[in-house]
Amino acid sequence: MNDTAPLTISHLQDMKQRGEKIVMLTCYDATFASTMDLAGVDIILIGDSMGMVVQGRDSTVGVSVEEIAYHTACVASGVERAFVLADMPFGSYHDEMTAMENAVDLLSAGGAMVKLEGAGPMVSIVEYLTSRGVAVCAHLGLTPQSVNQLGGFKVQAREEEDARQLLEDALAMQQAGAQMLVLECVPAALGRTVSERVDMPVIGIGAGAGCDGQVLVMHDMLGLGRRVPKFVANFMEGNASIGAAFEKYVADVRCGAFPAQEHEY
Ligand code: KIV
Repeated sequence: MNDTAPLTISHLQDMKQRGEKIVMLTCYDATFASTMDLAGVDIILIGDSMGMVVQGRDSTVGVSVEEIAYHTACVASGVERAFVLADMPFGSYHDEMTAMENAVDLLSAGGAMVKLEGAGPMVSIVEYLTSRGVAVCAHLGLTPQSVNQLGGFKVQAREEEDARQLLEDALAMQQAGAQMLVLECVPAALGRTVSERVDMPVIGIGAGAGCDGQVLVMHDMLGLGRRVPKFVANFMEGNASIGAAFEKYVADVRCGAFPAQEHEY
């Protein structure tokens, strides 16, 4: 494949099959997106983490579809190769029609796939979207949009029963047509098990080295985070430029140096 040809979900699935680690970062504008693209980042997520790192909110709740669409268009205009993944914000996918209309807005803005949080009632929403041509990434484990229910940003599925349920949820999402999974803040052993048991690529954030790929919030890995969780490393340390920090992150994820044991639960 040409090094700058746009990545597709098929390429990402092939990478999983080959055991090649997938590198993902969040991003919200064209300049950072272009720098990530040149550094070799495979997937750029326009995350609703934007609510916290760009808008200064205490959580991701309150970010709108219009805001994600605007930033998706900014990011998409900056990339040639990276796969562009757009987050569906809280309240934008509570029923099938609303989910479809909002997913169409995000794909029209330049996303190749949309991401939504949770399982249970979300399984039928994913089924609805995927049967109508929308590529969907599921997000399980710590689902930040539910922070008010969860009582904080905490490690999930530590108990055996919760871990078993999470694996079932991942399989149900895959069955519903999801083609990728983001797994956040779970024990490393569970991250590895889920990655082994599902066919879709599993991208971990605080889910251990056994996942098929890794994602971090850009501001966190550049050492700018206000609340830096244990699973984050500061890639600006020892690097003279932001581009070099992105390149180091790409290299460390690819070779398995990141995440290290100290970043795992
Ligand atoms: O919104 C976001 O940045 C995310 C990542 C934490 C995966 O969903």
